[in-house]
Amino acid sequence: MSLAINIIGSKILREKSENIDNTYPNLVELTKEMFTTMHESNGIGLAAPQIGKSIRVFVVDTSPLAEDEKDEKLKKELLEYKRVFVNPIITSRFGEFVSMEEGCLSVPDIYETVNREEGITIEYYDENFVFKTEELHGIKSRVVQHEYDHLEGILFTDKIAVIRRKLLKNKLVAISRGKFNKRYKVKIGVK
Ligand code: CO
Repeated sequence: MSLAINIIGSKILREKSENIDNTYPNLVELTKEMFTTMHESNGIGLAAPQIGKSIRVFVVDTSPLAEDEKDEKLKKELLEYKRVFVNPIITSRFGEFVSMEEGCLSVPDIYETVNREEGITIEYYDENFVFKTEELHGIKSRVVQHEYDHLEGILFTDKIAVIRRKLLKNKLVAISRGKFNKRYKVKIGVK
């Protein structure tokens, strides 16, 4: 089943999410629904606050990015990278800042350049509460940092250049009021 996605302007997107423990009900089912929702809306990452749950959970599947990738090794990596992150902690960020255009299912029709560190180390649990540590680079690092920000109540539009943010202000207000082309199930103005 596909879930509705909260749009910028919804309060829950601005809250800091809470850790969960292994008694959290139906976690595996929830993450499956998050994958379905993400795939049906053509996303490559989705965080729990976006579907109305203020918990530290997000899913990532970079396979749609593989299509345009010329490098065979990277193509395979992107095709295979599907993860559930529960209670993640980015323990280090390193490398140079890289600029890349980002978008977000909660901020439809907006694509802006964001600077992020090239690499991260992240500790997390998977959907079965198995502990993992991963070092990520490039696109995977970027997608994970974007999703991690959602758990902190941060949207990518907070990170763009001040001048760009000023230019976008009215457009973002319009989007928060539902004025955009709806290509997937959304919720507007959730408290
Ligand atoms: Co997002």
